[in-house]
Amino acid sequence: MPMAYINENFLKLKAGYLFPEIARRVREYASTHPEAKIIRMGIGDVTEPLVPSVVDAMHRAVSEMGVRETFRGYGPEQGYDFLRSAIASGDFRSRGCEVADDEIFVSDGSKCDCANILDILGGDNVVAVSDPVYPVYVDTNVMAGHTGESDASGEYGGIVYLRANAENGFLAPLPRERVDVIYLCSPNNPTGTVMDRKLLGDWVRYAREHDSIIFFDAAYEAYITDDSIPHSIYEIEGARTCAIEFRSFSKTAGFTGIRAAYTVVPKTLEGRTRGGKSVRLYDLWMRRHTTKFNGISYIVQRGCEATYSESGRRETKARVAFYLENARLIREGLSRMGLKPFGGVHAPYVWVQTPGGASSWSFFDRLLNEAQVVCTPGSGFGRSGEGYIRLSAFNGRSNVEEALGRIARVV
Ligand code: MLT
Repeated sequence: MPMAYINENFLKLKAGYLFPEIARRVREYASTHPEAKIIRMGIGDVTEPLVPSVVDAMHRAVSEMGVRETFRGYGPEQGYDFLRSAIASGDFRSRGCEVADDEIFVSDGSKCDCANILDILGGDNVVAVSDPVYPVYVDTNVMAGHTGESDASGEYGGIVYLRANAENGFLAPLPRERVDVIYLCSPNNPTGTVMDRKLLGDWVRYAREHDSIIFFDAAYEAYITDDSIPHSIYEIEGARTCAIEFRSFSKTAGFTGIRAAYTVVPKTLEGRTRGGKSVRLYDLWMRRHTTKFNGISYIVQRGCEATYSESGRRETKARVAFYLENARLIREGLSRMGLKPFGGVHAPYVWVQTPGGASSWSFFDRLLNEAQVVCTPGSGFGRSGEGYIRLSAFNGRSNVEEALGRIARVV
């Protein structure tokens, strides 16, 4: 019987996606220990409810949808003007960044955007990622056929891995060679470290000198507490000709289940054809977005818009502050245990070396079995993550306090 051909790039993928694998181990443990009170500090998923301003705005939008005169069908694929304008002025122009309303493309998630953006790039680009890295950047390049096979350590041919480690403060160094595409994430997932203006400036200069494109993932920018640290790559001069930025409402407004994000594609950013002709990436992304995507719901977009109102800002800021306080407790608790944590100051993630040189997965298993605490094994983010774990600060306060007490008994 004839069968359709598959995308064989998927067969190159080394392991299952990290978070489902963690979920599988936790399910297995829970099924054999039904009495265990498991505290989940693995996946970075919010726990606190939506803020009142968002709930009110979404309620109003639902009511509008129930009345013929204000009912809406398909909206613009790129997002309603009211939201694109609130984003461009609230997140960018207010910070002195030149971003036009129509350079904002609203979507249902940064994970999807980071993956989908590859549709508009060619397959021969040399891609650089930091190691450890948010696995989506790597796996989507594998799926798109932009890499070779993986080696014994799980790294893929053709990708340039920029090693981040305790020596460089878990801030990936600039590549020694020329690369075409660079993924940067600041505040960083998984290490929780953050790039200052000087370092981000070095990256923009590198990208401009080498005609590279930076994919700047700023999903956690709301967690920056020091105003001298850039929230957007467009705060750096020249970034409009070399960078695309990804932003999300997930961790800012607690929308991991609601789904909303956006991508900024400046009209000044160009790529080239094999024949050497320059092409605006904006036009390609517009074509891709309007062809493959139908936008997110009006109700959700009104919820997003509400986060830019005075009350919405105040309320969402309080949520972020709550998680940051959790991060502080985790950081300080781990330090008291004699461990040396990274991150957790401008980010909801704390990154820490396992005690006694344990491997990431064995310490994961130990924390699950002996403390009933779920973490994320650092090796799931790449070779340089081996020997580390990540703890997420997205949790209720009593869970964080309880988890720290239990961890202290195990290390
Ligand atoms: C994480 O835990 O790394 C994040 O929740 C992943 C994501 O945002 O997709």
